[in-house]
Amino acid sequence: MAEIKLESIHKNFDEVSVIKGVDIEIHDGEFVVFVGPSGSGKSTLLRMIAGLEDISSGLLMIDGEEMNDVPPSKRELAMVFQSYALYPHMSVFDNLAFGLKLAKVNKSEIKERVEKVAEVLQIHDYLERLPKQLSGGQRQRVAIGRAIIREPKVFLFDEPLSNLDAALRSDMRVELAELHEKLSATIIYVTHDQIEAMTLADKIVVLNNGLVEQIDTPTELYNNPKTEFVAGFIGSPTMNFLRGDIVDKSGAEVYGVRPEHISLSPNKGKIKCTLKHLENLGADTLYYMQSEDYQQITVRVEGMGSHKKGEILFLDYDEANVHMFKDGKRV
Ligand SMILES: Nc1ncnc2c1ncn2[C@@H]1O[C@H](COP(=O)(O)OP(=O)(O)OP(=O)(O)O)[C@@H](O)[C@H]1O
Ligand SMILES: [Mg+2]
Repeated sequence: MAEIKLESIHKNFDEVSVIKGVDIEIHDGEFVVFVGPSGSGKSTLLRMIAGLEDISSGLLMIDGEEMNDVPPSKRELAMVFQSYALYPHMSVFDNLAFGLKLAKVNKSEIKERVEKVAEVLQIHDYLERLPKQLSGGQRQRVAIGRAIIREPKVFLFDEPLSNLDAALRSDMRVELAELHEKLSATIIYVTHDQIEAMTLADKIVVLNNGLVEQIDTPTELYNNPKTEFVAGFIGSPTMNFLRGDIVDKSGAEVYGVRPEHISLSPNKGKIKCTLKHLENLGADTLYYMQSEDYQQITVRVEGMGSHKKGEILFLDYDEANVHMFKDGKRV
């Protein structure tokens, strides 16, 4: 059980400031996902929470206790990195048991705990194998198992699924969600993957250039992004930002409309466009359109799509689905 609080956290590497005053509160048992562009400071924040990186200024509290100068081994948290290294010459059992052996836990308890973890992660059939005899996803589960077996208060995951194929990723995503339910542990999880962020998170922290842009539930971030940055970052394909005369301005500089909220008609609608390019994704098709004033607009169409490159189409959307921004902020 653990609550984590970051207060005005800063991080400088020599002269360069990379975390510029971050406040985040994570409640006990929450699954919190950090997202943001490359270099925005996600791994640095995670490493500071783990104790692998000094905190330049600010306060890190776990369960009401200041942690700034507490060594990593005393923080009761487990970190799983993108590149997990298993001991290649040890069986899965010994990989899982290693930390407990070091901690001088007795043999029968080790066996019990390894079996329990193997059960949760469905790797009990592979306990006698070496890592090289496992698939990527199985290895990934062993790496997660090594973290779980220590029964930490907090799990820190830094893009743990990024080197798995799409099918394994979705399997592991489901397993992680189930694991979170079973263990009711506090989890902080860094990812670039929109689906992982939207499906796993109780709340998402959007980072931009060392600062928090917004902290909210996935649904709130999707429906009510507070800044143009968040609007463009959450959602795939990304939100369309329309400017100029093609929209009624009413004080806003930018109109944001998601590709899935635009409808098409052959003869009437708000914006006249030419269909420039199509991408058929199977269940839906992306239309890349161009307005008469050369703005690029993406439209998501269900199914295969019934139009051809070069066709003229009119776009329409419900005003309720429009996000308006001025100076980068929602209005
Ligand atoms: N040891 C270091 N020395 C100097 N600068 C560093 C160091 N580690 C990270 N940085 C810089 O800090 C910034 C944040 O890096 P960080 O690794 O936290 O980004 P990230 O959000 O995890 O990015 P990615 O999505 O690419 O993993 C980057 O500009 C990076 O170059
Ligand atoms: Mg990183």
